[in-house]
Amino acid sequence: MNLLIMGLPGAGKGTQAETIVETYGVQHISTGDMFRAAMKNETEMGKLAKSFIDKGELVPDDVTNGIVKERLAQDDIQASGFLLDGFPRTIEQAEALDAMLADLGIKLDAVVNIDVDPSILVERLSGRFICRTCGATYHKVFNPTKIEGTCDKCGGHDFYQREDDKPETVKNRLDINIKQGAPILEHYGKLGLVKDVDGQQDIDKVSAAIKAILG
Ligand code: AP5
Ligand code: MG
Repeated sequence: MNLLIMGLPGAGKGTQAETIVETYGVQHISTGDMFRAAMKNETEMGKLAKSFIDKGELVPDDVTNGIVKERLAQDDIQASGFLLDGFPRTIEQAEALDAMLADLGIKLDAVVNIDVDPSILVERLSGRFICRTCGATYHKVFNPTKIEGTCDKCGGHDFYQREDDKPETVKNRLDINIKQGAPILEHYGKLGLVKDVDGQQDIDKVSAAIKAILG
C-alpha cells in the first residue's frame, strides 16, 4: 500500500502513522523526522533545515524533494509500500512527487486527510512530548504515558519537546500550512484519492476511522 497522510501541524499525522505502520507494514517516511535527524547529527543539510524549521518556515523544495526522491528509490519501498508524512507540503512538491512515482512505476492508493479545526492545534502542540529513544509521541493531557515518566512502547525515560512547538513558531507553521495545503488536497481530490477523517475524535477513534477506509 502506498499512502500519503496529510493534516495541519498537530492534526495527528505522526500519531496515526505509528498505527498505520504497525497495521499495514508500510515504511514511514516523515520529512520532518528526516530533517530532525539531520539537525541532531549537525550535517550541512541539517544546519540548512534548522534555519527554516526554527522560524516555522518550509525548507526549500529542492532540498526536500531530493531527500524524498532518494528515500523512495530504496528497495524496501518497492517491497513494503510507504506512508509519506509531511510531504508534499507545496503544490510544486506534489508535482515533483507525481513525477518520482511515475519514474518508479508506483501508484498512490490513498491520501488520508486528517481534518481538524486550527483553533485546537496550539494546545495539542504545546502539550506534546516525544520519547528520545524510540520517537513515540505523547500528550500531557490527551495521550499521557501509562506510567509517568516511562515510554509505553520502549520503556525509555528520556523525553523531549520540539523546538518548533513554541506558540509564536506554531502560529507561523499553521498560517503557512493552511495556505499551502488547500491546492494539494484539490490536486489529489481531482484524482479521487482524498479520504477525509475527522481528527477531533479520540486517538483510537481516528485510528478506527482510518482502518475502516483503508480496509
Ligand atoms: P513536521 O515534523 O512534518 O511537522 P508538522 O507538519 O508541523 O506536524 P507535526 O509533526 O507537528 O504534527 P502531527 O500532525 O504529526 O501531530 P502529532 O501526531 O505529533 O515538519 C516540521 C517542520 O519541518 C516544518 O515546519 C518544516 O519547517 C519542515 N518540513 C517538514 N516537511 C517539509 C516539507 N515537505 N517541505 C518543507 N519543509 C518541511 O500530534 C500532535 C499532538 O497531539 C501530540 O501530542 C499527540 O499526542 C496529540 N494528538 C494526536 N492526535 C490526537 C487526537 N485525536 N486527540 C487529542 N490529541 C491528539
Ligand atoms: Mg509529525
